[in-house]
Amino acid sequence: MLYQDLAEEAEQILRLNWRDGFTVPTNKLYPFQWNWDSGFTCLGHAYFEPKWAIRELNSLFSGQWENGMIPHIIFHSETETSYFPNHDFWNTTVNPGAQQKPKTSGITQPPVHGFILEKLLAKFPNDGAFLAFVKAIFPKVVHSHRFFYTYRDPKREGLAFLYHPWETGRDNSPLWDESNARIQIDKSTLPAYTRQDTKLADKKERPTSDQYDRFVYMLELGKRHQYDGEGIFEESPVLLQDTLTNAVLIQSNQSLIRIGERLGLDTGELKEWQAQSVKSFREKLWNENLATFTCYDLRKEAQIEYKEIGGLTALSAEIATKDQADKLNDYLNDLHNRGYYLCPSFDVDDPLFDSKRYWRGPIWPQMNWLIYEGLQHYGFSATAKIVKEDFLELITKQGFYEYFEAQKSVAAQLDKGYGGGQFSWTSACVLDLLHKDQ
Ligand code: DGY
Repeated sequence: MLYQDLAEEAEQILRLNWRDGFTVPTNKLYPFQWNWDSGFTCLGHAYFEPKWAIRELNSLFSGQWENGMIPHIIFHSETETSYFPNHDFWNTTVNPGAQQKPKTSGITQPPVHGFILEKLLAKFPNDGAFLAFVKAIFPKVVHSHRFFYTYRDPKREGLAFLYHPWETGRDNSPLWDESNARIQIDKSTLPAYTRQDTKLADKKERPTSDQYDRFVYMLELGKRHQYDGEGIFEESPVLLQDTLTNAVLIQSNQSLIRIGERLGLDTGELKEWQAQSVKSFREKLWNENLATFTCYDLRKEAQIEYKEIGGLTALSAEIATKDQADKLNDYLNDLHNRGYYLCPSFDVDDPLFDSKRYWRGPIWPQMNWLIYEGLQHYGFSATAKIVKEDFLELITKQGFYEYFEAQKSVAAQLDKGYGGGQFSWTSACVLDLLHKDQ
């Protein structure tokens, strides 16, 4: 397939998934608006309907809570019942500041919108409508960062914790297995529920039912504490200082600081958060033995010692020192030399690696986009080129799927990717990467 054909197909998919104001990640499997999906999707809109990017972000922020949180799902339809858990199950009325029009979930996701906004501004630096939009949404994006620093950083370290694995974006990563194992599931008190995802995607590519019980347990725990109460920190068996989320927060802080300086907006609070966050990330999350940044288990007070994709986002957020960046680059080159597509989401040498199952191994499009950007920042153009070309090869051979097989020998036997097809952020990342220099 030619690059021109790829670009056309990407645009067609984004048009197909557009719902007059926002974009679904994929038809059927995810029928509403998802937080970080939406951010990446704007990268695609910018190439053919730039005004859609404005509408997309405005729709997302219409779900913002008084406490600043941007929920991970905005349920623009209250009658669509094909997704679990829907708005009734979340019942966010337990929190008086929760947005009810539109209805939303009660947890958040990685805050990519600050740096997405900067990308968009760079493409339309003198467009009046666009500048007005950036000025109007800027305080709301800052407020969404304030949520992390106010409600998710009780020790005031500059590192936010997450309590629900869905918040990390890497729902069923082996990273959370130990924390999840602390949850005592009592089936007699767990509310009855029916999964919808396994009716729409292959069971072997989705989280297991045991993991879903834990997702539901943590949802109920959040609900008991109005989704932002101090009791969450006191009670939750799962308290994660996640690399990906904190790196993305730092990257977005930096983008907002640059935007604010350019447009004459207040950046004082952002600068304070940023100084502390960068310092804590560097000091607390680097693991010299593994030569990567690791997540931190706040309940156990220990690093979660695995090599996985979140550590690599220290590159896109420009947190890594030159020496640390060299090590991350070596790690990727080693995987490439051993016959893996870049970048597998989990350590391929660990027994918990599962090359099919969601976040336990597969390649994820938006992660390749982030890591490509990060490698370029540090001047690793040759590795960045592999990250881009591997991704485009997978799309060309297997279609615009949600995630992909990491082992080249296994991928060669497959004619399609994993999870949902005709995927929005996949299409948006293809469009943007096709426009990069190499
Ligand atoms: C899902 O439904 O699998 C999402 O990742 C969680 O929102």
